[in-house]
Parts: sequence; C-alpha cells; structure tokens
Amino acid sequence: MLPDGSLTTAIVLAAGEGTRMRSAIPKVLHPLAGRPLLEHSVRAAAGLVPEHLVVVIGHGRDAVAAHLQSVAAALGREVRTAVQAEQRGTGHAVGTALDVLPAGLSGTVLVSYGDVPLLDTATLAGLLAEHHLAGRAVTVLSAEVGDPTGYGRVLRDGSGAVTGIVEHRDATTTQRAICEINSGVFAFDAEVLRDALGQLAPANSQGELYLTDVLGLVRAGGRAVGAHRCADPWLVAGVNDRVQLAALGAEYNRRLLEHWMRTGVTVVDPATVWLDADIALAPDVVLRPGVQLHAGTVVGAGATIGPDSTLSACTIGAGATVVRTHAIGAVVAEGAQIGPFAYLRPGSRIGERAKVGTFVETKNAELGAGAKVPHLSYVGDATIGEGSNIGAATVFVNYDGVAKHHSTVGAHARTGADNMFVAPVTIGDGAYTAAGSVITEDVPPGALAVARGRQRNVEGWVSRQRPGTPAADAAKLAKHALPPDRTYGDQTRQE
Ligand code: UD1
Ligand code: CA
Repeated sequence: MLPDGSLTTAIVLAAGEGTRMRSAIPKVLHPLAGRPLLEHSVRAAAGLVPEHLVVVIGHGRDAVAAHLQSVAAALGREVRTAVQAEQRGTGHAVGTALDVLPAGLSGTVLVSYGDVPLLDTATLAGLLAEHHLAGRAVTVLSAEVGDPTGYGRVLRDGSGAVTGIVEHRDATTTQRAICEINSGVFAFDAEVLRDALGQLAPANSQGELYLTDVLGLVRAGGRAVGAHRCADPWLVAGVNDRVQLAALGAEYNRRLLEHWMRTGVTVVDPATVWLDADIALAPDVVLRPGVQLHAGTVVGAGATIGPDSTLSACTIGAGATVVRTHAIGAVVAEGAQIGPFAYLRPGSRIGERAKVGTFVETKNAELGAGAKVPHLSYVGDATIGEGSNIGAATVFVNYDGVAKHHSTVGAHARTGADNMFVAPVTIGDGAYTAAGSVITEDVPPGALAVARGRQRNVEGWVSRQRPGTPAADAAKLAKHALPPDRTYGDQTRQE
C-alpha cells in the first residue's frame, strides 16, 4: 500500500495449463458457482481497489483474455494482462507482470492465483493489514490443513519465525509432515520483490523459477518476512484437478446457501439446491428440493421455486410459484404460476397472476396480467392480452420454414382447445375460437371463429365394414339397449 493506505498493485497468476484438469479448456476458465475460477480471483483482488491489476496469462491466452475483458467491463475498471509465453514458474510469471508495470513501481504488490476461488477480499485485506503492521518485506498467506499433500510447506525455525517455503515435491519426509501450507498468496514490498526475482534460480525438481523461493532469499538478505495465517483452510484451497473443483464447488454452494438462509430465504433441502454466485433472493423466498438458480436470476419476496426447477438469468416476481420448470431469460411477474413441467425460453414475459401450466413451452412470448396457457401448448413469438385463456394443446405456429412471425391475441379472448394460430395472425379482444380450429385469418373482436371440417356420421358403418369385431358386437348391444325412439348417431346419445 502507498503511505495513504492504498494498494498499488495486485497480480493474479493464470498462465498455467492446469495439466491435472485433463481438459481442452484452460483451468482458470472452468466454472464454479457460475463464474470462471479466474473471475473469483480477479473480483477478490479488485475488491482491494489496487491502482494496477494485472493478470498473467499464457496457456489458452485468447480465451482467457476475452474472459478478462468481460470481467473488466463488469467491474468497471482496467484489468491489464501480461503474457507469459512459456510457463517457467510462478516467480517467472510475477516477473512478466512487473515488466508491464512502471519501472519504478513502489509500494505493496499483492500476488494471488487464478485457481483459488473461495479466497475473498476480506482475507486479502487481513493479509495486507498484518504485512503493514509488522513492517515486513514479504508476508505469505498460510493455513493449517489436514492434508497438505501437493502444497508448498511453510518452514519455521526453533523460535517459530518463518524461514522459507519448500515445495511438496522438493520436501524431505520431515518437511512433508508440516501442515502449515503456502496458499500461494503473498504481499511484497515492490522493490524487494523485483530485486529477489532477479536472484531466483531454477534449482528444483521442476526446473522452474519459484516465487516461493523469494521468501527465503529476502530473509537471508536480512529483511523481515512472515506468515499471515488464514483460520479457514477452505479460503486458500486451490483447484488443481476436477475432484478439487467439485469439492470446492460444493463448499462454495454450502456457504452461499447459508448466506441466503441468514437473509431470510427458506431452503427446504440444502443438499439438493445449487446456487450461482450472481443471483439475488428476497426474504421469504422458498427454495424446494432440486432447485438450481443460475447467474442473473433474481427472485422476489415470497416466491416459491421448485421442486425440481432450473432457472437461468430469470426474474421472478414476488409471490410467484415455479414448479418443475426449466427457464432461461424469462421475466415472471408477481403472483404468476408456472408449471408443473413448463419450459420458458428467452423473451418469455409472463404477466401478473398469469399462468403457464403443464407441458407448456414459451419463447419470445408475452402474457398479459391474468392470462392463462394452462395445458400442453407452444407459445412462440406471440402476445396474449390480459385475462385471455388459451385452450389446451394450442400451437402458435410461428415458423414458416424460413422466417419467424408474430401473432397477437387480444384481451379476455377464449380460444378453443387444439387450435393452431398460423402466424402472423391477430385474434381480437373478447373473441372466441372453436376447438380444433386452424386459424389462418384475423378474428375480429367479439367474433367466434370456426375453422374446421364439419362432422359427418356414417350410420351402421361398423356392422357393415367390421362385422364380428368386438366393436360391432358392442354397437349391436348398445343399439338393443337403446329406447325404441333412439338410434345410434342420434344427437342425444354419444359414445
Ligand atoms: C503453488 C505453490 C505452492 C502452493 C500452491 C497453492 C509455487 C512454486 N508453488 O503450487 O507452494 O502451496 O501453489 O495452491 O509457487 N502459474 C503461472 N505461470 C507459471 C506457473 C504457474 O501463471 O509459470 C500460475 C498457474 O496458472 C496457477 C498458479 O500460478 O494459477 C499456481 O500454479 P500451479 O502450477 O497450480 O502451482 P502449484 O503446484 O499448485
Ligand atoms: Ca495450484
């Protein structure tokens, strides 16, 4: 930090391949709670409001740089990149970052990694506070963990003073028994860092320039070094493989659920509910079992979601209910009822107290207040006015094989079951349509449209064409059972 207390520089290392992920996607772009791992790290560092924020990229750099651009836009600040063409170690990576910064950089440099998704701004601020209070040249963020396998170990002398860091693969059996690990996060004095990086040698099993060696070098040079212990090992846990990705994802989710429950959200079964980081839930929201809420989803007070629903980038109004539904980019107003078994696709705008019922799919569709599409229907590219009821098994036929067309149903219309609305077509306010109609022409307000063939009954056809079948026998019996003044096909008696 500068004398005024501000941090000059934060560097996030994200150039490594992440070999242990065995993936075509760069490790730092694997998502956790709906954000790439790297975004978690960059947001935590940005929370310190450093003057310079640099991310070292290398492996998969085009994809990583593109992601960083969107993060920078979301944060509304500059995020620089430094390209480390060859991954020659974490020390080399930090040197690459310093190369894109002003030559006379001074103050404090924070280094963190792109694969430590639970690390938060508060923990980084704690590290910086101790670093400054103790007047050190280097402070490492450490943690006591149950299984330190794979991590660098923090070495201390008889008096407990930190003397260095040794990598797991370079450690002796005695050193491997140490449970205090290097999180990979450091606070450095900028000038001391630059000087020590110049002295690094690849004298280790990987032949790399290790950032961790800086600590020992600086101590040997007579400057104060130390460790800031993080009490919660989850916060410093890194993702190296997909097993760790899943474990950290589950822990992050557990914490998110706890956060939302403390703000007044009921989670009936936390074991089966998954939340992304970027969502917002109002008090008295109820999440039933089997719910996934993905990034950009906002749920209003008292709404009930689930069971078994997945919502991405949706806005759900207060008091709405969403049951066994898959929804993407939908806006559902207050008190609306969705599902069970509904599929809301982008551009679905469901009005107040409106209903999208069972086995209904909507896309680019607007339902007015109180409008209902209760059963077995597809509503694509359509506007349905307030209070209208769409009959079961209706299709808004929006696609002519080349282009999509829009249809409009006015207010308080009653459309019959099994209708096809062949777009573009307009049904006027208060109009009715008959069941089984294929509506290809506009229907004026208040009219009844009938667009189907008339029924014709061919008397005695079964006994003539299908004699001796169970159907013929049944018909014969029914005929005998009828009062003498009635015959089959009579309007008063139907099968
Ligand atoms: C590193 C530390 C180890 C620590 C652990 C914590 C070193 C030598 N080791 O080991 O002490 O306990 O993190 O998780 O620092 N990276 C680059 N360029 C490189 C090499 C790495 O940018 O040339 C980046 C990676 O993308 C990653 C981070 O640095 O974000 C750490 O690299 P990784 O290979 O995962 O180091 P670890 O073996 O986990
Ligand atoms: Ca790592």
